[in-house]
Amino acid sequence: MSADRCVLSRFASDLPPLSETVCLGEGGTPLIELPAVARRVGVRSVSAKLETANPTGSYKDRVAAMSLSLARSQGYRGWIATSSGNAGMAMAAYGARAGVPGFLCLAGSVPPEKSLPLLAYGSDVVSVIRVKGAGRPEVDGDMFAQVRAAAARHDLYLGVTLHAFNPEGMRGIDTIAYELAEQAPSMTHVYAPVGGGGLVVAIARGLAGRDLRPAMVACQSTGCAPVVRFLAGEIPSVAVERSSTGISALQLPRPPDGVAAAEAVARSKGWGTAIDDDAILSAQRWLASAEGVFVEPAAAATVAALLADADAGRLTSDAQPVLILTGGGWKDLGRFAADAAQVRMIDVADVSGQVDDWVAGVTTS
Ligand SMILES: Cc1ncc(COP(=O)(O)O)c(C=O)c1O
Repeated sequence: MSADRCVLSRFASDLPPLSETVCLGEGGTPLIELPAVARRVGVRSVSAKLETANPTGSYKDRVAAMSLSLARSQGYRGWIATSSGNAGMAMAAYGARAGVPGFLCLAGSVPPEKSLPLLAYGSDVVSVIRVKGAGRPEVDGDMFAQVRAAAARHDLYLGVTLHAFNPEGMRGIDTIAYELAEQAPSMTHVYAPVGGGGLVVAIARGLAGRDLRPAMVACQSTGCAPVVRFLAGEIPSVAVERSSTGISALQLPRPPDGVAAAEAVARSKGWGTAIDDDAILSAQRWLASAEGVFVEPAAAATVAALLADADAGRLTSDAQPVLILTGGGWKDLGRFAADAAQVRMIDVADVSGQVDDWVAGVTTS
């Protein structure tokens, strides 16, 4: 692979110094138009940054590339991280690439599509455990504290994908912003899903570094919306009692980067929008059928929030929002299991007749 395909090399002068760069071809993701979404919302254009195109299917590859490059450059003996799935897959892949072993604490509620691929990297590369945390599905503070202490005790790179734990590694996400500055300099809004809060912080920071200040819109499920509710003045601090959302990656009632996320959104003159899980899941299906773009539910929260904002009259017709589509749809397929019966098994002798019936019924636009 040529060195210029490595996003960390491309933007090296903007990032912490590295003596070694670990690369799997991350970054350089496409920005595509979403014409059906733009029509539905009634704005000039809507674009999507397809972070699904990263090597392990999510934007976390940018953090993992940075984290493992730092771990190699600074001589750590291993890495340790917590994850709701995507960060774990990214850290395991880049750990394997770098030859640096790791220990991963997965939130108890991780979908199997996010946990099972970890086993492919091998137990000598990544030791994976699932942590339940007092019956709560989310990654919680006690787990974070133990992981932080273990990192210090054993000289492990702390690869948690939050600024509160791994500020230098999180600089890898700034590269989304550097690419957007080239791809969409006239964007007016950036819609990003918010779990722990680090993604929105890094994108806002990277854009400000390029003198761009679009309104940042924090998208959360109503089942766990501490940042949105704090921005709306409904709660005194960026924390809610518990999470009731089923959306993987958005289940952090006390987001460790929540205050920084709320500040970044407020500074950009943006806002928070919360939508319920049903709206997120129907936006996921609609985006796939209307635009051919299949993303995981956390990413679809951006689409649901945009639709809700349009319905609430929050966007003018000259708006040019960008949606950060953070992870691929194949990462969380459980909700489609009930649809499997739609795929019928037929005898080979019936194929021609079935095609004829289908053509007779199909309508083309
Ligand atoms: C697909 C996806 N989208 C969004 C997020 C939220 O990012 P953050 O936790 O930095 O707010 C995550 C975090 O795990 C994620 O995996």
